[in-house]
Amino acid sequence: MSKIDSVKKNIEAGKKLVKDIESLEKIRLQFLGKKGQITDLMKGLGELNPEERKSHAEELNNIKNDLNNFISLKSETFDDEELSKQLSSEKLDLTLVSQITEGRIHPITQVIDEVIAIFADLDFCIAEGPEVETDYNNFTALNTSENHPARQMHDTFYVNSKTDEMPNVLRTHTSPVQIRSMLKGKPPFRLIAPGKTFRCDNDQTHTPMFHQVEGLVIDKNSNMGHLKGCLETFLREFFETSSPKMRFRPSHFPFTEPSAEVDIGYKKDGNQIIIGEGDSWLEILGCGMVHPNVLKNVNIDPNEYQGYAFGVGIERLAMLKYGISDLRTFYDNDLRWLKHFGFVPLDIPSISGGLSR
Ligand code: DAH
Repeated sequence: MSKIDSVKKNIEAGKKLVKDIESLEKIRLQFLGKKGQITDLMKGLGELNPEERKSHAEELNNIKNDLNNFISLKSETFDDEELSKQLSSEKLDLTLVSQITEGRIHPITQVIDEVIAIFADLDFCIAEGPEVETDYNNFTALNTSENHPARQMHDTFYVNSKTDEMPNVLRTHTSPVQIRSMLKGKPPFRLIAPGKTFRCDNDQTHTPMFHQVEGLVIDKNSNMGHLKGCLETFLREFFETSSPKMRFRPSHFPFTEPSAEVDIGYKKDGNQIIIGEGDSWLEILGCGMVHPNVLKNVNIDPNEYQGYAFGVGIERLAMLKYGISDLRTFYDNDLRWLKHFGFVPLDIPSISGGLSR
């Protein structure tokens, strides 16, 4: 038997032994590897006379192509088998979700989801920042210098940091996310940043950890009128009322000029608060036009860009909308409370489907 014939026979025998990706690789090496049987015969072609060389080369190439085809077909089959094995072992039973009847979405999560749904509809994107923040981002970059009285008002938790010069803090508001976002990107900006905030304060109306959502819009011509329209839309959507009563009151924040606080009109009906009616006012958020110094601190030219910012307390929103009267109950982890005030997991808030049902 010629050498070629015996290699052919070996290949046929080898093929029968292939049962997985490893044995396929073995046969590839055995015949097509550096020291493989086909490779060896190829190397020997040079010693043959021209006539034989041509016919042998042709035959060897055919054998080689056949084997390559066999290998790629088999490897596809093995890949498919592997994939379906993996898919069936990682099966996810989606009907399980509809069987969840016990768990509830916490009102804070619900309100954050509602706020996100409203602002996403207004083309805002979501930004994030860390809860342990540098003193610089939390205060200095926001135009709150070392001796600024606003620092005292924030009852800051200081965190040990590695270097003495630059203390870290638990962020006292979500405003430092403005700084991080502007340093990371290029104007225009249109973002909200919901998240946890911390202040060393604990009584009936304060908890050491609470939540805020920050808003920031920077472009070439956004003004107080846009800010007012944006907040009006937000409050109308959030409180699901056609005409929220709101008023802007002059205020002061180091990072905005001019600054304002927004009050929302309400009336009391027994124990119930009805938003959008009556002559009583409740402070609901702080806002203003971003201070030129803040823009300079993030390398944005205040002669070219301007914009507005706002900060809202999530707990306050939740209390007003869902009639929760004591702030501290949010963090009592009382399952009866959660069952009463919580939300069904799959009722995901959306503008088209309804925020709260
Ligand atoms: N950071 C302020 C606070 O925690 C809230 C706030 C006020 C945010 C005005 C803003 C703003 O962006 O413009 O009290």
